[in-house]
Formats: sequence, structure tokens, C-alpha cells
Amino acid sequence: MTGEPPTAETVSTLLEDRELVIVSNRQPYSHEYDDDGNDWEGDDGDGRGDRDGITVQRPAGGLTSALDPVVQSAGGTWVAWASGDADDEVTDENGRVGVPPESPAYDLRRVRLSDKQVDGYYYGYSNQVLWPICHVDPAKMNADSDFWKQYRSANRAFADAVVEETDDESVVWFQDYHLALAPRMVREERDAFCMQFWHIPWPSWDTFQTCPQYEHLLDGLLANDLLAFHTHRYCQNFLDCAAMIPDTMVDRATRSIVYDGRRTFVRSFPLGIDADYRRELADSEDATAFWREFRERHDLGETLAVGVERLDYTKGIPERLAALEEFWETRPEWRERFTYVQKASESRSRIPEYRELQAEVESEIERLNDRFGTDDWTPVVYLNKFLPPEGLAALYREADLAIVSPRRDGMNLVVKEFVASQVDELGVLVLSELAGASEELGDEAVSVHPHDTPGFADAIERALSLPESERARRMRDLGRQVRSNDVYAWMTAQFRTVEAIQRGRDVAARSVQRQRYEQ
Ligand code: UDP
Ligand code: G6P
Repeated sequence: MTGEPPTAETVSTLLEDRELVIVSNRQPYSHEYDDDGNDWEGDDGDGRGDRDGITVQRPAGGLTSALDPVVQSAGGTWVAWASGDADDEVTDENGRVGVPPESPAYDLRRVRLSDKQVDGYYYGYSNQVLWPICHVDPAKMNADSDFWKQYRSANRAFADAVVEETDDESVVWFQDYHLALAPRMVREERDAFCMQFWHIPWPSWDTFQTCPQYEHLLDGLLANDLLAFHTHRYCQNFLDCAAMIPDTMVDRATRSIVYDGRRTFVRSFPLGIDADYRRELADSEDATAFWREFRERHDLGETLAVGVERLDYTKGIPERLAALEEFWETRPEWRERFTYVQKASESRSRIPEYRELQAEVESEIERLNDRFGTDDWTPVVYLNKFLPPEGLAALYREADLAIVSPRRDGMNLVVKEFVASQVDELGVLVLSELAGASEELGDEAVSVHPHDTPGFADAIERALSLPESERARRMRDLGRQVRSNDVYAWMTAQFRTVEAIQRGRDVAARSVQRQRYEQ
């Protein structure tokens, strides 16, 4: 296995014949009745797999978009919340459905939650307590005590489903902040290998301590054998937090924590994308056809920048629009020449902060277009409807700049999608130093601080003025990194660590047995 780039087959080999069970809140596919107005990224676009009156949809979000191709190749079961209104129509009596619908490659096991659970667990504790705290914005926390109650009960529902799907030989892989308590609940029933990937930042102790339930969360997470984050910094923060609670022994040399008679290893694995797939999409005829039509339809300048995100306050969209306003205001020579395209999708709209953000983004874009727009030129093109994957690929391919300027982001996969889609390698990446991706790719990007408006506007100009040879050099370098650290490499590195941990345990167990025998 040395020398060859990791693939889905490598992952399957590492798993041997152990059953892989992935657990996340968000499901990779949902079934929705056609007349439903919803905030998903759209259907699969090909009609296959859709039933009469029911559409299959895929969510906008990094977790599902990254993991689905790998699980499709490696196989296994994916346990997730049944969020679609037509989900029950298509699942069997055990809550299972094969996906992707057009050619099933693995089982999706759906977990049904009550409205009360969804309100308190998903819209409440997950996204109004953990999300703001982990994104270092604790002032946005809403510590309603019912949220915690529902978080516990939903974690129990996930844990029960996992117990049904597993035995002691399984590998259970929890994803993200929605499921901090489930590992302990599963551990009480199963001796399976438990691991968790935390897709968002892990904050410093000072910030984490603002969460009233911090001890319970650590107790749940420390039931895992392996706990993983995107960056080294998040791992250090986690070790610092674990050191603050009683009864833990933090071993910095091996980056592990001993708690309740078990050892949890803490490691960083920066998440990647399926780079070859993104490149193929960008190179496709469909992308070219989309672009031709798109150009016709919009009054674009000759130079284009793109931003792609869920409408989330962590993504820094209003701050970016402020920098663009400063840019057009102080550099009138770029008016009528430079257009910014914002692709956005609605997200978590039941939470007031999210609704306010949507309204703010829309009204700011309208204001900028009124202020600077002309009969033949639109400064900001706003796309908030479904865009097929080849449409997104065309935008990435044709953009001279991608502007990715979150106030805080665990990793940010849009960065990597943009790089992988750069067929002519002449695009420039403008990247916030507060994105996890900056640790890996920051050196070859033009760095910005989302809150420094004049500095941000200067950076846009700098990016637009880079000579072609310099753009190409940077993009080639970025491309190499994105391809070699793709999602298969990410998954392989983790399963090699699983193997090493298990081998270490076997050796330790055999040595204990031998000592007993010799006594
Ligand atoms: N995405 C999309 N349409 C949108 C916004 C986002 O398809 O309108 C996809 C995007 O291509 C990427 C993912 O959603 O695959 C976003 O992942 P990222 O890590 O950047 O952010 P997250 O939304 O997970 O916080
Ligand atoms: C982030 C989180 C994921 C989540 C995604 C989309 O990437 O880390 O867990 O799935 O955002 O958010 P949503 O709330 O729609 O699942």
C-alpha cells in the first residue's frame, strides 16, 4: 500500500470485514414531497431514483458532500436524522433505504425525531449553544434548559439505532457536534471501536467553559477511542479543556487522555474533497453549456469573483460585502469591470440570527447594486436557488478569484472545490486567516482578515493584480495539495490510526494475559 495514492479500496482493505457504521445528524439524501418549499440544495437532477410526487434531495454542507462518495465506495451503514417529509414513504420496516437511489451502494438508516426533539436538539442545543461556542461567538449562545434535555434525548435515539445496527466488532464513526453524548451511550451497550470527527473548531478552555454542560460533553466524547479534528490547534485546545476536568489524565506525549479506565487518542486529519470528481465536473461539456447560458443571462464584468456558502453568520458574508463596497468606492476603475457572484443557500431558518442574516445579505446586495450598478453591469449577482453541480463547477472554473472569508470556520471545503475546479490554473484564492483551511493552504492564498475592511479591499486588488505566472505557480501548488490530501487520503489516514490503536491494544492485552499465566 506504500507509494500508491489512497483510494476507496484502501479504506475497504483497512476495514477488513468489520462493519462500518457512520452516524451523523444530517443525512446525505432526503426524500421530500414535490410541493414542499424547502431550504435544500436541490434534487439529483436526473429524475432517476425519484418516485411519483417525491424528490430526492442532497443537502448543502461540507460533512455530507465529503463523506458520501467515500461511503459509496467503502460500503457500510449511515445512521442519520429522518429530516425529509417523505422519508417514511421509502424506508423499509427497519427505517432503512438504499442510497444513492439511482444505484444503491450503502444503507441509510433513518432516525425519526419528534418536533420537540428537533426544536430543542437541532435548532436549540446544537445550533444555538454548541455552534456559537465552538465558533468563538458565545454571546450568541441561548442556554435554554429544555435544549439540553432534548439534546440528551435525541442522542439517546441515535445511540439506540446504532446499538441495533452494530455488534462488538463494528467500527462506529460519529460525526460532529450534534452527537457528543451518543458515544458514551453506545459504549454502555457495545464494545465496538468508537471514533468521532468534530467538523467545527474546538475552542480554547476560556470559551468552552462558557458552556454550562461542559463536563457532560467531555464525558460523552471521552467514550471514543479516537477523537479527531481538522487542525493541530483544535486538538491542543481539546487537550487543554480535558485537562481542566477532574479524573482525567492528559498525556501530551502520546496526545491521549485516560478517563474512566479508557484511553482516547486525539489526532488531526484535515478533511479533503473528491478532487478528481470536481475536476471532471469542471471539465465537462455540461459545465461549459451552463457557463455559456449564465454569461448570456447576467450583466457580468470581464473579471469575476465567486463566494459559495450556506447563509450562516460564521461565513462572514456581510463583512465581505462591506469590503467589496470599499473596493468599488475607492477604486472606481474596477466598476463595470468586476462582478462578484454570491451563491448562497438558506440554512437553519428557524433560528432568529439566521433569518436576520438572510435579510441583511439580501438588502445589502440590493443596496450595492443600486449604488454602483449600471444598465449593462451588475456588481453583485445573487444566486439563492438550486444550482446543479456542473453549474457550481462552471462558476469555480471561470472565476478569477474565490473569496472565502469566514469569521470562523472548522475547515471550509469550498476553498478546495474552487482549487480542484481550476482547469486553466489562473484563479486566485482570497482566504480568511480564520478558516481551518488556512493552516494547510494559507501560504499560497492572498490572506484576509474578515473584520479589516480596508485591508480586505486592498487584498482583493492585490489578488486581481497578481501576474499570470505567479497565479499559475500558486494554483499549481494549491492543486497538488488538494489532490494529495483528498477525502480518500483523509479517510485512509484515520483508518490506519484505528488499526495502529487496535494493534497497540492487542499487544497490551496479550502481555497482560502472559503475565497472568506466568504468575
Ligand atoms: N454548497 C452548495 N450550495 C450552496 C452552498 C454550499 O452546494 O449554496 C456546498 C459546497 O459546494 C460545499 C458545502 O456545501 O460542498 C459547504 O461546505 P463547507 O465546508 O465550505 O461549509 P459548511 O456549509 O459545511 O459549513
Ligand atoms: C457544517 C456542520 C455539519 C452540517 C453542515 C450543514 O458543515 O459541521 O454537521 O451538516 O454544516 O448544516 P445543517 O445544519 O444544514 O446540517
